[in-house]
Amino acid sequence: MSRHVLQAVGLVRRYGGLTAVDHVDLVAPPGMITGLIGPNGAGKSTLFSLLTGVEQPDEGKVVLGSTDITRMRPDIRSRRGLVQTFQVPSLFPTLTVADNLLVGAENRRRDYAGGLLGLSAQGRGRVSHSIERGLERLGLAPKGPVTQIVEEVLDSLGLSDVRDTIAGTLPTGALRLVEFARALCARPDILLLDEPASGLDSEETAKLSQLLRRTAAGGVGIVIVDHDVDLVFSVVDQVYAMVGGRVVASGDPQTVRNDPTVRSVYLAQAPLAAAGQSGEAR
Ligand SMILES: Nc1ncnc2c1ncn2[C@@H]1O[C@H](COP(=O)(O)OP(=O)(O)OP(=O)(O)O)[C@@H](O)[C@H]1O
Ligand SMILES: [Mg+2]
Repeated sequence: MSRHVLQAVGLVRRYGGLTAVDHVDLVAPPGMITGLIGPNGAGKSTLFSLLTGVEQPDEGKVVLGSTDITRMRPDIRSRRGLVQTFQVPSLFPTLTVADNLLVGAENRRRDYAGGLLGLSAQGRGRVSHSIERGLERLGLAPKGPVTQIVEEVLDSLGLSDVRDTIAGTLPTGALRLVEFARALCARPDILLLDEPASGLDSEETAKLSQLLRRTAAGGVGIVIVDHDVDLVFSVVDQVYAMVGGRVVASGDPQTVRNDPTVRSVYLAQAPLAAAGQSGEAR
């Protein structure tokens, strides 16, 4: 099954007289990492919320594959392959790591089963376990048992040792990894990552970079917003730079880093001035 591209088309979001997102077009293809940068108040988080469905645009649309998802709720988007992780990991703290991952895997699976039955997006969320199991027995469930996906992800992320650990007892770095693992269990087409490096030390951030590259190499599209501009520039395939709600530059990291507008905006700011000196991307 080919994965879907995520597109923002002419997105506008206004708060009173302020236009937080101003006619933004963005394309996040599968297998690529797309970064979103900009100074404080540029509109990054607002655009992110429009993509996830937490906020609704005043104009424009969000399209996943050939489906207009602009009016779909975040949970429905997630079942259709647009999966987000949160700045504060949103795991079930009293469940084990493995059970947290099972929740991620089950959500996506229900959408498959509902799709086979021709149900609407809303109806798909209500597909029962018995219907799922029935489809499995008939050989119509395309992705193998959910437990198998969970074991694969635990193994590939080196989390097998903590599979039975209660999530709430893990330190921040491990929690972020479990949050990421849970998102992967949902078999995303596109992963939206909000500040994935916040709270991580430099070693953990380096591991995260590798993990993002590996995930994208497996065909998943990734959109990343992070204040760690070194991380963004070092890991992405393409960057969108926002200022005042608008995209002022986009393209490969080197092009965006050398863009005169981007330079003039960021050279005054310590973090990006450092990124500007940090050599070639990847
Ligand atoms: N709920 C809201 N109500 C009113 N104004 C808002 C709201 N959310 C964001 N804004 C305004 O929209 C603009 C864009 O904000 P946004 O949070 O998207 O920027 P950002 O690029 O994420 O900034 P930061 O780097 O500080 O996180 C800002 O001027 C902000 O004050
Ligand atoms: Mg923000």
